[in-house]
Amino acid sequence: LTRPMTDPFGRRISYLRVSVTDRCDLRCFYCMSEDMTFLPKADLLTLEELDRLCSAFIHKGVKKLRLTGGEPLVRRNVMGLVRSLSRHLKSGALNELTLTTNATQLAKYAAELADCGVRRINVSLDTLDPDKFRTITRWGDLDHVLAGIEAARAAGLAVKINAVALKNMNEDEIPALIDWAHGKGMALTLIEVMPMGEIGEGRIDQYLPLSLLRGRLAQKYTMTDLDETTGGPARYVRVAETGGTIGFITPMTHNFCESCNRVRVTCTGTLHTCLGHEDASDLRKPLRASASDEQLSDAIDRAIGLKPKGHDFIIDRRHNRPSVSRHMSVTGG
Ligand code: GTP
Ligand code: 5AD
Ligand code: SF4
Repeated sequence: LTRPMTDPFGRRISYLRVSVTDRCDLRCFYCMSEDMTFLPKADLLTLEELDRLCSAFIHKGVKKLRLTGGEPLVRRNVMGLVRSLSRHLKSGALNELTLTTNATQLAKYAAELADCGVRRINVSLDTLDPDKFRTITRWGDLDHVLAGIEAARAAGLAVKINAVALKNMNEDEIPALIDWAHGKGMALTLIEVMPMGEIGEGRIDQYLPLSLLRGRLAQKYTMTDLDETTGGPARYVRVAETGGTIGFITPMTHNFCESCNRVRVTCTGTLHTCLGHEDASDLRKPLRASASDEQLSDAIDRAIGLKPKGHDFIIDRRHNRPSVSRHMSVTGG
């Protein structure tokens, strides 16, 4: 039954990102519009269905599984899913079970996550300024996020901070974020904004190429390229002055599609083989048609067979529409 998944370009798929909900308790302006409409509950896979789907992928060679959203920790009883999936860590089938979170609910769940075998988590945080945080997230309370991060650290979880580089918003604050994160022994990853979903604002006004930012950082920090990878898209450097690492996720200026090892599943059971493509395969249908494991496995293989060579993201004045119509919060990054 275990057929490793390889896409048409020979890339082995070993990393599954699962968006367990499209909902979020924040509304980061580059991610969602303020009046975002969410999926009807009836369309959602149940936690049991999500578990079955994840397990099918693990049987097919997925070694790293990341829960995302929306905000994964706002899905009701998401810890039941984490607990259940942790059996694959114990059996050795899965190397890593992790999540990407905005940390607002983390204080509540950190200890239990650690107890389930989660070793590290990624926290999305673009600024350390409470007013700016409120502006970016539209109503978020920075103190909740900081408390969540501290709870995670206290529970023994390694925390990596993800910051989207935003023109005229946090670009001057990146050194402060680096110094703060590294001061606490946390890695920081910078991300280029991607043109996903209608957000009612021009991406060009948000977009800050990391090549430019890196040049600026080089005036303050001595950065040495590292070969190590987490299996994610970031390329890392070590900073001599702080001893910490910075990751660069550069879909726009330097795409990393050639070494892509991942696919994503949404909370409705749709498989997207590429963040920057409209391609979609419905896995909810076989799940709900009581497909056998073999049939589900075949449906996954057919979907993987559609994985394109790379993404189609474009940000410039002439392309004022999103390259991909679905929002990041549906796809889970
Ligand atoms: P690590 O396991 O720590 O390496 O995390 P990760 O970078 O794989 O996951 P995370 O959820 O922290 O993702 C950070 C950013 O990378 C998000 O904005 C994702 O959307 C983006 N990202 C992840 N995978 C891809 C991809 O295949 N293509 C593109 N363009 N962006 C991606
Ligand atoms: N481009 C880049 N990153 C985005 N995120 C959300 N929307 C976008 C976008 N359009 C980030 C979040 C989080 C990660 C999962 O995706 O800030 O760190
Ligand atoms: Fe929520 Fe994350 Fe999107 Fe912000 S980026 S609105 S925290 S899903």
